[in-house]
Amino acid sequence: MFPISHFNITKTPFYYYDKTLLSNTLAKLIRLAGERNYHVHYAVKANANPEILKLIAASGIGADCVSGGEIKAALEAGFPAKKIVFAGVGKADWEIEYALEKKIFCFNVESAEELSVIEELAKKKENIASIALRINPNIDAHTHEYITTGLSENKFGIPIEMLDSIFSQIQRSPHVQLVGFHFHIGSQILNLETFHVLCERINQLQDDLSKRNIQVKHINVGGGLGVDYENPDKNPIPDFGRYFDIFQHNLNLRGGQQLHFELGRSIVCQCGSLITRVLYIKKGIEKQFVIVDAGMTDLIRPALYQAHHCIENITSDMEKCRYDVVGPICESSDCFGRDVMLNETKRGDLIAIRSAGAYGEAMASQYNCRTLPGYLIE
Ligand code: LLP
Repeated sequence: MFPISHFNITKTPFYYYDKTLLSNTLAKLIRLAGERNYHVHYAVKANANPEILKLIAASGIGADCVSGGEIKAALEAGFPAKKIVFAGVGKADWEIEYALEKKIFCFNVESAEELSVIEELAKKKENIASIALRINPNIDAHTHEYITTGLSENKFGIPIEMLDSIFSQIQRSPHVQLVGFHFHIGSQILNLETFHVLCERINQLQDDLSKRNIQVKHINVGGGLGVDYENPDKNPIPDFGRYFDIFQHNLNLRGGQQLHFELGRSIVCQCGSLITRVLYIKKGIEKQFVIVDAGMTDLIRPALYQAHHCIENITSDMEKCRYDVVGPICESSDCFGRDVMLNETKRGDLIAIRSAGAYGEAMASQYNCRTLPGYLIE
């Protein structure tokens, strides 16, 4: 599965991306979305590697960006501005001006305060900003607390109770045009029932608003579809069909309304692995540590969210032994897995940390003055 012969000439650690799996994932996604007339935007934050972005842009889907830098990267990769959405609670003035200049599809507005700034900047530029209101529906996504975004205690979106004053603000401004409602309740959601609850909340809201003649052209339900970190080879392509069916069967779209999605993890996660070389096998009193040359600086998910990633020794076929797989960073959380069963491992072996295509390379840092990981895509 891994072209190990190439790996020996590549400096470790590096991300290995399986281009065929990415293309197959995109092909399936595009077919299933196309059959339903759904619009998909790739959440650039999941993986902004320029080659990955180019491949995804070439597939024809749009982009979901959270910063001016991401908008720039998306445009450079070939995503058309007309397919870019821009969400985020803290859009800086220059980012708003840049997005206005580029004429992106839509700003997903997260507060009344932000709306005022967009109004002012659009006026200054004699422009009209297309906006969707990001609504906080107060739904528990039942995922890790750091990646739950749709509860009223979270900083994201506008509470339903505060919408009225925002509608008045929009009516008073000739420089913003309300085109959509946006929702994103969290990430790595495996219980699809959660999206059913979201559909019901949106139906209720649209019922209430239609009585007051408020209707928008599109609904954007964000992203969040989870992937199987335990079995990366079993179902490498997420079940987009079952996911879309939830919306098709439960969300009442009105008068030709378009449905938009912002998917990140489900598109890129399984196509990436972090490849790292074993530096030492350190024998402790209670443990045997496999010390690798990748650290939490290259893949922070286990340290930050206690995330589980499958770990494999891809150069040994010896009997399994029990190890803790750790990195060289000066933090005890710099651990990729405890009590992992690996083929007997020696210095110089290569280890693959699987399901690392999403929020892996994108979250890498230079802590401890390290260099950023490289990548190989083929
Ligand atoms: N739309 C918005 C507004 C978002 O904030 C996100 C992710 C997405 C879409 C894409 O969600 P996805 O389909 O990838 O679940 N670093 C964390 C995940 C953070 C997600 C942030 N927002 C992790 O490694 O699990």
